Amino acid sequence: ASTRYEAESGTRSAGSTVDTNHKNYSGSGFVNSNNAIGAYVEVTVNAAAAGNATIAIRYANGTGANRPADVSVNGTVVSSARPFDATTNWDTWADSTLTVAVKAGSNKIRLASTTADGLANIDYIDFGASGGDTQAPT
Ligand code: GCU
Ligand code: CA
Repeated sequence: ASTRYEAESGTRSAGSTVDTNHKNYSGSGFVNSNNAIGAYVEVTVNAAAAGNATIAIRYANGTGANRPADVSVNGTVVSSARPFDATTNWDTWADSTLTVAVKAGSNKIRLASTTADGLANIDYIDFGASGGDTQAPT
């Protein structure tokens, strides 16, 4: 099981907007970040227990070029300059999936652009997409 956290329900860097001008998004829109280094989207997710969680980041990138971002959990970068490679167009979304360590309760997951291009468009983060959200450490 997983829980969906819409990007538009999180926080975002100044100049970012919630847009609806491309197709196939979930919720009420997607986040179009400002085009700058450090442009970010952050969602707060809830983990039932400490352990590993799988997160799937839904994004679109119609530029044809990578839009890398640092992925951090509670302020610590867990995936540095993670590639968000081009998708077919801005209407076509893809998942970037990784496993991260979380603590019990609230955890802040942030995507922050590492280039002046800003982030890919971000639709949502599915938390615990592979059922890892409630696993205890082993
Ligand atoms: C276009 C597109 C936006 C996107 C932007 C970008 O303006 O419509 O959704 O965020 O390009 O390159 O960041
Ligand atoms: Ca943008």
